[in-house]
Amino acid sequence: MTRIVYVNGRYLPYAEAGIHIEDRGFQFGDSVYEVCEIKDGALIDVTRHCARLQRSLGELSIPMPMTEAALRHVMKQVARRNRVHNGLVYLQVTRGQAPRDFLFPATAAEPGLVILARAIDPAKVAAKAGQGIAVRSTPDTRWARCDLKTVMLLPAALAKEKARQSGAQEAWFVDEMGYVTEGASSNAWIVRADGYVLTRPLDHRILGGVTRTTLLDVLKSLQVPVEQRGFTIAEAQSAKEAFVTSASATVMPVVSVDGHAIADGRPGALTVRLRKKFHELAEITPIERFLGPA
Ligand code: PDD
Repeated sequence: MTRIVYVNGRYLPYAEAGIHIEDRGFQFGDSVYEVCEIKDGALIDVTRHCARLQRSLGELSIPMPMTEAALRHVMKQVARRNRVHNGLVYLQVTRGQAPRDFLFPATAAEPGLVILARAIDPAKVAAKAGQGIAVRSTPDTRWARCDLKTVMLLPAALAKEKARQSGAQEAWFVDEMGYVTEGASSNAWIVRADGYVLTRPLDHRILGGVTRTTLLDVLKSLQVPVEQRGFTIAEAQSAKEAFVTSASATVMPVVSVDGHAIADGRPGALTVRLRKKFHELAEITPIERFLGPA
């Protein structure tokens, strides 16, 4: 249960936390976010998450709300105060509050910062990974800067809801050429019959996933051949294995795409191995004094 939330300089009880009605994140989606995994009392890959946050903010000319060191401190504090040992820390930076106007405020607003932490039962995630997930494809109707982690998540929410209604747990966006761009909240991968792992190269159509980057390190260390190129739904359906990556799911096996089973319909052997290996190469930043007073 989330107990304490950090909002614009204060640690507040969850029920009392709020932002201004003219926050630009609320009115314009003028806001970026990060989701960082917490595993066994440590932040996972926080350096890469902070680097991506700085990049998203820089591209939108939103200043960092505080130094990276201070940000890391608050992330840890929020995890600690909520006693989250396994789960996620969510942080969102908005351009701040100003009377509603499309143009940026004349005098720079203070960026808004919200950080919350939520526990996730690792046994539940493990059970899900043991089964694998179903994916449903949908046309990619998002904007042309999906490399920025903005909160403009309506297309993703609609796609996930549509996927859920058809019994799937994730949606895969498909571009005008018929190539999978990425998942609604994950990067998409397949393993070809010849053992090559395929994932789309980075461009403005996809988010450069932190899990994706670290997994490429893992694949390199295991000497697994990788080809960064787009693949179609038909290629995915005839692949040996498929999976998605995200901070919340790490490496999650995909066992069917649009109702078509991948191989024997069970999580693939390489996928399972990558899931196990992942945290051996990821950056682990302990949240010290974890059991100390909140
Ligand atoms: N989603 N692509 C999209 C569109 C995403 O929203 C995400 C992450 C990813 C994977 O990025 P990373 O490996 O850095 O988590 C790719 C987060 C988890 C979310 O919105 O909850």
